[in-house]
Amino acid sequence: MIKRWTPADYVNAEAVEHRLASIEQSIKAATPTDQPVTPALRDYSPRWLHAPAEDRQRLLDEAKAAALKRQVEVIRQTRATSTCSACKRGFVFYGQPHPECPPTPTTPSLCLKCYREEKDRREREERLDEFSETNPLSHHYLHEQEGAPPRPAQYDTVVNWKGWSEDGDRISLGLVLVGDSFTGKTTACYHLAHKLVESGEYYSFLAVNSGHLNTIPEKVLDRSIGEFMERLQTTELLLIDDLDKVRITPRVASELWTLFEVRLREHRLPIFITLNTRTKRDFVRLFSGRDADSAKVGESIYNRLRQACQFIDFDMVAT
Ligand SMILES: Nc1ncnc2c1ncn2[C@@H]1O[C@H](COP(=O)(O)OP(=O)(O)OP(=O)(O)O)[C@@H](O)[C@H]1O
Ligand SMILES: [Mg+2]
Ligand SMILES: [Zn+2]
Repeated sequence: MIKRWTPADYVNAEAVEHRLASIEQSIKAATPTDQPVTPALRDYSPRWLHAPAEDRQRLLDEAKAAALKRQVEVIRQTRATSTCSACKRGFVFYGQPHPECPPTPTTPSLCLKCYREEKDRREREERLDEFSETNPLSHHYLHEQEGAPPRPAQYDTVVNWKGWSEDGDRISLGLVLVGDSFTGKTTACYHLAHKLVESGEYYSFLAVNSGHLNTIPEKVLDRSIGEFMERLQTTELLLIDDLDKVRITPRVASELWTLFEVRLREHRLPIFITLNTRTKRDFVRLFSGRDADSAKVGESIYNRLRQACQFIDFDMVAT
């Protein structure tokens, strides 16, 4: 008979599974892997009595393991109400779905563990689909690169970037990759973003390059600028590729300043930037084409990035 489900049974179901897992763990620990588990404790008693002293411990361990294994089976058989269609094991089901399962009037066909695995797999696929839909260039940077990265040390630093420490403190709000063309800066960023989205650490990634940012003046005119900048402000991971190729008008400079302020200060969301220019002077010069005010904005942006992000020089070659 299927027992009526109560909230406490969420806990029960999990507790039973937990107990089974820990019993199985002790069986594994108690059973030497090369010895088959033999049936019952009582079968061992006469053997144990007549065994030479040096064999007694082993026989006792075997007996303990066998007893534990029986205990697991008994619990499984008496409590299991369904058989999982994926792992084929009996599982405990109390007549109503687990809060994480979709509502269903019938017994679910997957145990909680397999259901979670299936759900994780589906969500991972959805995230990666969205990743490639949002970023049409990702196919090029992820799947069309052959051979080794041109700067292996820098590449490793980028793909192993971490925003948080083990203790959950923010340790970095992003990376600024500087260096010559063709050193693998953009590729490394795509690989990092893909890894972070695949693992589920982050959900959204948006890459924009100078082509996108050079449309800012048009977007001001057709009034789509707000929506565009909001996407850049709110995506969890943002790559600004080739920032030095952007034509920086005063309006572009102020949009960029706002973007960096909102992401780094307000939302505390990371930014990844690639640049060919290496020095602060060259960076500020990108902004100073039009007027002195923009140059000041450029300097403020540079200082903010220095404060929040890690700079990586892709020109340096390890010797
Ligand atoms: N991780 C990698 N594995 C294999 N090949 C790579 C890798 N990274 C880069 N390459 C090779 O180097 C080329 C240039 O890489 P990428 O476009 O990432 O450089 P970049 O530093 O961003 O250049 P630019 O400053 O011109 O944008 C790629 O087309 C590829 O041939
Ligand atoms: Mg590039
Ligand atoms: Zn299962």
